[in-house]
Amino acid sequence: MPEPHDIAARKADHLALCTDGDVGFVAKTALWEQVELVHDALPELALDQIDLGTTFLGKRLRAPLVIAAMTGGTAAAEAINRDLAAAAEAHGLGFGFGSQRPLLSRGIEAGYRVRDVAPTALVIANLGVIQAGAVPTARLLELCRFSGADALALHLNPGQEMAQPEGDRDFRGGLDTIRRVVAELGLPVLVKETGCGLSRRVGERLLAAGVRAVDTGGAGGTSWIAVEMHRADADRRALAERLRDWGIPTAASVAGLAPLGLEVCATGGVANGVDAAKALALGARCVGVARPLLQAQARGAAALDAAIQSLLAELRAVMLLTGSADLAALRAAPRVVGPARARWIE
Ligand SMILES: Cc1cc2nc3c(=O)[nH]c(=O)nc-3n(C[C@H](O)[C@H](O)[C@H](O)COP(=O)(O)O)c2cc1C
Repeated sequence: MPEPHDIAARKADHLALCTDGDVGFVAKTALWEQVELVHDALPELALDQIDLGTTFLGKRLRAPLVIAAMTGGTAAAEAINRDLAAAAEAHGLGFGFGSQRPLLSRGIEAGYRVRDVAPTALVIANLGVIQAGAVPTARLLELCRFSGADALALHLNPGQEMAQPEGDRDFRGGLDTIRRVVAELGLPVLVKETGCGLSRRVGERLLAAGVRAVDTGGAGGTSWIAVEMHRADADRRALAERLRDWGIPTAASVAGLAPLGLEVCATGGVANGVDAAKALALGARCVGVARPLLQAQARGAAALDAAIQSLLAELRAVMLLTGSADLAALRAAPRVVGPARARWIE
């Protein structure tokens, strides 16, 4: 186990690498280019009539976007989370804290309170399934209450851990932990990957454990194995270089999970509103965006607001151009699917 003071240094490394570093996938994409929505030249809709509303984790969102889990536990994280949460409040979105392990293990509170700037937004607490496995459910509920969270995300990240010098190496018992937390927490539980994706088979096992909501955390956006590659010693660096593109593309993950009846948030390489529209057409309830919004926030709150507005404007435009007045209509919109995505689905 790493010493707790290492956690703060690691968080700072992660933020710096994700803001400026070369941490994307190299050859793999989220497969949005394999999904085309068919143009409707006669949409018979007005742009301002389009309804982006959805529900996720029991809460109404004005638009189907979650600012995905990123940070907490440092002074820098506090400023970032306040900007992200305030933007979620302004636009009626969801907001996820990064891992609350620093709060759990050392009582570090910085960055884990945003309710004063986001009184009504969907706020999601976050902890790794391995850390959650080591504490009673009542302690997890305390973490959620501390942050005024509506739900708890349990993250699965074995790929990242394998590449992380101080990472976990034993992943036994994860499903039991998830089953216990879902049964006992009394708040909705979201199970999320962080960039390697969730397969349909994992979705089936989660469903059988009582899970109702998942976040794909799919491949094609931020590669957490690449993030760790930059922090690794020579041996582990070679492993991380080899595995940098590991994972299930986000489009394939959504298409595999949504038909199971899970509430799906499509995160991983959603770079704009056209990608978002494709994810929603494939059956996602909402999309999640992490690193692109961190980079926007680094340019200031106005840039963050502009990035969110652009994404939603692009989504609205695609909905008009597919004749979709709401997200249910978008899910039924005609599409053309390319062979690479079709292969993943099989
Ligand atoms: C700086 C940063 C920190 C992150 N930390 C966490 C975390 O603590 N817990 C978690 O579940 N996911 C974490 N993630 C993963 C994101 O929630 C997301 O799944 C992943 O980055 C893929 O989305 P993207 O391609 O939009 O970046 C983090 C992402 C970034 C960019």
